[in-house]
Formats: sequence, C-alpha cells, structure tokens
Amino acid sequence: MKTPRAAGLVVVFLSISAMALVAAEGNWQRRVPGADRQRVNPYAGQPEAIAAGHLLFKENCAKCHGSDAEGRHGRPSLRSQHVTHATDGELAWLLRNGSLAKGMPTWSSLPEQERWQIIAFIRSLPHDAAPAPAGSRP
Ligand code: HEC
Repeated sequence: MKTPRAAGLVVVFLSISAMALVAAEGNWQRRVPGADRQRVNPYAGQPEAIAAGHLLFKENCAKCHGSDAEGRHGRPSLRSQHVTHATDGELAWLLRNGSLAKGMPTWSSLPEQERWQIIAFIRSLPHDAAPAPAGSRP
C-alpha cells in the first residue's frame, strides 16, 4: 500500500508549492530581483524633478491613487508605510513591470527619466500618520 501514501505526499507537496506561489504573487515586492532593488534614483530630492513628477502623477496615476495619492476605490495609498519603506529601486521595478494581476498597469511606455521623476514626487509626499499606539487615545 505504498502508492496511495506517496500520492498523498505529492498532493501535499503540490498544494504547499501552489500556496507559496500565490503568496509570492500577492506581494509585488517579493518579485523584485536583488539588483533592481539596489537601484538609486538619480533625481532624488531635486525640486524640478519633483515638480515634473507631480504633473506626470496627475496625468497618469491620480485616477486610481487619488490626486492626493491617498488611494481610492481599493487602490492603495502611496503614502503608506509599505510604500515609504520600499526602496527607490523596488518602486522603479513596479513602475516598469506593473502588478497586472492586481490591476496596477505597467508604465514601461514612459521614458525611464519620467518614472524616476514620479518616484521623486512620491518620496516628497507626507506620510500617512502611523496608527496611534493603544491606550494613547482619549
Ligand atoms: C488602473 C489603476 C491604476 C493606475 C492608473 C495606477 N495604479 Fe498604481 N496600483 C494600482 C493597484 C490596483 C495597485 C495594487 C497592486 C498590488 O497590490 O499588487 C497599485 C499599486 C501601486 C504601488 C504599490 C503600493 C503598495 O502599497 O504596494 C505603487 C507605488 C503605485 N501603484 C504607483 C503608481 C504610479 C506612480 C502610477 C502612475 C504612473 C500608478 N500607480 C498608476 C492601480 C493603479
């Protein structure tokens, strides 16, 4: 009676791999290769780049993420800790590749310079307030 047991193990193994795959797909950040993650924004903090990025954001991104970038209709805020803690390189990877299965388009049609300008703009936004620690509320 070895075969049914082996088949059972194969099924367990396959479902674990499938779950791992779904989890990896669930968070775009896990798909970013190491070399991309390290990339640095050549326009970081430059006022002209931030202004250009703001215009590009209004044109391309505001309809989903809101003109204040706080997210809308289930599209995430870009002022969140998740975005604040992502590296420039990770954001650049996301803009180039999108997260198509979740409804985030690819922006590879924009010149790379414009994608960096948008990232410089995102970095200039105020961050969402962190949730107040329990017990600190009146
Ligand atoms: C058609 C709607 C749509 C447009 C337009 C759009 N996005 Fe998104 N965006 C999404 C969705 C949906 C997600 C969530 C993707 C996911 O969870 O994998 C997302 C995720 C993101 C994230 C990651 C947020 C997080 O917390 O993980 C960033 C950064 C982002 N978008 C930036 C932009 C920028 C910059 C633009 C304009 C160039 C843009 N998006 C245009 C729908 C959109």
